[in-house]
This record gives sequence, structure tokens and C-alpha cells, in this order.
Amino acid sequence: MGTFIVLEGIDGAGKSTQAKLLKVWFEERGYEVVLTKEPTDTAFGRLIRRLVLTGGKEGIIDGAKISHEAEALLFAADRAEHVDKLIKPSLEAGKIVISDRYFYSSLAYQWARGLDLEWLIDLNRFAVRPDLVVLLDLPVKESMKRLRSRSIKSEFDRIYELQRRVRENYLKLAERFPEIKIVNALEDVDSVHRQIVALVEAILEEK
Ligand code: TYD
Repeated sequence: MGTFIVLEGIDGAGKSTQAKLLKVWFEERGYEVVLTKEPTDTAFGRLIRRLVLTGGKEGIIDGAKISHEAEALLFAADRAEHVDKLIKPSLEAGKIVISDRYFYSSLAYQWARGLDLEWLIDLNRFAVRPDLVVLLDLPVKESMKRLRSRSIKSEFDRIYELQRRVRENYLKLAERFPEIKIVNALEDVDSVHRQIVALVEAILEEK
């Protein structure tokens, strides 16, 4: 069985940068790595981007034009395919799987939308639990600076408020799910990478 690592955090926390660095770290040690993300690049992911997300490259979730429930179900459908077609087979082949976002994103974001947390947890029960979830945590002010959002003020305030709730939710989820470890994402790229590597080494030792 391989090892499954997930990176989570608000938009602009540095997940994709750290995911790439971690991939290289593993490869230098001879591991075979599958780097993946949610929403995926499949037809499901594209549907989500079209129906749910706006904000261009930043991918900040907008006031969805579809119901929050439909939105949560689309993310779950995308994830079901992701687990079945890529994550499970890769783990069974003994590979390292690194995913930029996973069901914790649904819990943090769709909960922030006002959906019931317990319903969201039930909905995602099919999703295999990772060995480690790294929560890249940083204040929303900093993440918004990094995203250099050029949106108009009313838009900015709305996104800011959503991100603030999402951050709070992630921190609450870290108390409930023991696999979530919090890393301070305010530090520079290298020291965040070193913190993640320390967590990964602990997991590999346990196995
Ligand atoms: P993001 O990681 O920004 O993807 P990309 O850069 O490829 O567009 O994710 C897009 C947005 O979707 C982000 O704001 C978080 C949100 N999201 C959810 O609300 N629920 C989920 O289950 C997932 C996976 C993402």
C-alpha cells in the first residue's frame, strides 16, 4: 500500500508550490509519485469550473449560480471518480499520492456556504482517508495579498469574508480529524517545505 498525502488551505496558501516541492523530495528518494488535484482536470472538474467557479486563475469560488447542495454533489461526484480511477489504483500499486485539495475542501468551503457539516461528512464517506493532511494556515489578509485580487471593493469584501470563514472551518476540522496537521504558511517557501517534510518523515516512520 502506498502513502496518501493531502495539502489543504485557503486560496493563496501555497498548496500547489508545496505539492510540487514535496513531489521532488519523494522522487529524489526513489519513490514513484502521483501528483494530483481537486477539482480534477476531468470532465467533472471542467463542469465544476464552468458552473461554480469564477475569478479566473485564482479560482476563487463565487456565489454559485446553482444551489449549494448541487455544488457539493458536483464536488463529491468529481471526487468519487478521482478516488476510483486514480487514488485507489495508485495506492494499491504502492505509489505516493499527493493531492492538492481533497474532501476537507468540501467540508471547509461548503460548510462555509451554510450547508450542514454532518451531511457533508456523510456525503464524502466513500473517500479513502489520507495518511497525512497538511493544513497550510495563514491569515486571510496575507492570502488576499498573494492573490493580488483586483476585484472591485464589494467583491473583495465578499470573498474576504468567505475566506475568513473557510480558514476558521479548517482550524475547527483540525480538532476533529487527527490526520490534519497545521503548518504556518506565513513563513518562506523553504521553511514551509521543511515543516512539511518533518511531518512526512514521521508518517513514513510509523508505517
Ligand atoms: P483551486 O484549488 O483554486 O483550483 P484551480 O486553481 O484549479 O481553479 O480550487 C477552486 C476552488 O474550489 C477553491 O476556491 C476551493 C473550491 N473548492 C470547494 O469549494 N470545494 C471542494 O470540494 C473543492 C475541491 C474546492
